[in-house]
Amino acid sequence: MLNVSDVMLTGQKALVTGAGQGIGEGIALTLANFGADVAALDINESKAQATAEKVRELGRSAFSAGVDVRDSSALEAGLEAAASEIGDIDIIVNNAGSAIRRPSISYSEEQFDEQVSLNLKPVFITSRWAATRWIESGRPGNIVNVATTEGIRGCPGFAPYSAAKAGMINLTKTLSSELGPYGIRVNAIAPDYTPTPGLDEIDLSGRTPGQRMENIIKFIPLRRLGSPDDMAGAVLFLVSELSAWVSGQTLTVDGGSLACARVEGPMPFPNLVKRLKEK
Ligand SMILES: NC(=O)c1ccc[n+]([C@@H]2O[C@H](COP(=O)([O-])OP(=O)(O)OC[C@H]3O[C@@H](n4cnc5c(N)ncnc54)[C@H](O)[C@@H]3O)[C@@H](O)[C@H]2O)c1
Repeated sequence: MLNVSDVMLTGQKALVTGAGQGIGEGIALTLANFGADVAALDINESKAQATAEKVRELGRSAFSAGVDVRDSSALEAGLEAAASEIGDIDIIVNNAGSAIRRPSISYSEEQFDEQVSLNLKPVFITSRWAATRWIESGRPGNIVNVATTEGIRGCPGFAPYSAAKAGMINLTKTLSSELGPYGIRVNAIAPDYTPTPGLDEIDLSGRTPGQRMENIIKFIPLRRLGSPDDMAGAVLFLVSELSAWVSGQTLTVDGGSLACARVEGPMPFPNLVKRLKEK
């Protein structure tokens, strides 16, 4: 039988990239609330500091640093500094990422490379850093990568983002296969529409996703958008003992949208049931 303590992260040290706002901030605070000390890395140093301050208010130790995850040396230096400050890292959440939108044929090579450097390569860098240390010290470890439903299906306008996140999902599987024998688990979550400052920066035909939500909600079976807490709950499951025998998986956190064909839109169930009864 599982115990309440199996969901707790007491004594563990978690590092979250892109922890300054949105989903990353939500994950960082939830992990802290369940007992972990947290290192918050973000390209925006003051936002990382603000998250670290909130972690301290929850009674946990915290570290923050301004790090651009596209810069591998800076990322490794940030990982080292975090471990020196809060202790050996047990949990890595690769969350930093963002998308740009344009037709595939209009992307420049630099834009394509940039999207891969941001959304895929840091998973390799942080995993190599952490797994090397976990294997040498004989300690288990946990990695969770924040992918997207667009890494599972194609997504018009987001070719390099979608491809990089698909790469992230595959890297999750390969790393889990190689690292499993050392007690290291590697999983991913695939969020769908979750209002965050970053999501609202993406321009969709002159309207932000925030302005299009009413239409989008119709195609989500659970009839609401995601929240950073929805994502944090899935990450908590994946880094806690609740998922002790789960590795290599990508958990879609999408209100059921990926399970639902969108061809004709949602069924008008109450009307349909009424009509069938009348027949
Ligand atoms: N919001 C959604 O609907 C949604 C859906 C699917 C997947 N995701 C994924 O979730 C993750 C978080 O998204 P969000 O919506 O919270 O975004 P957001 O833009 O609100 O937050 C992202 C954070 O990452 C930081 N960041 C950006 N580039 C960075 C870099 N190069 N180095 C370090 N930090 C950097 C930003 O400063 C910011 O604090 C991303 O990987 C995104 O692809 C989001």
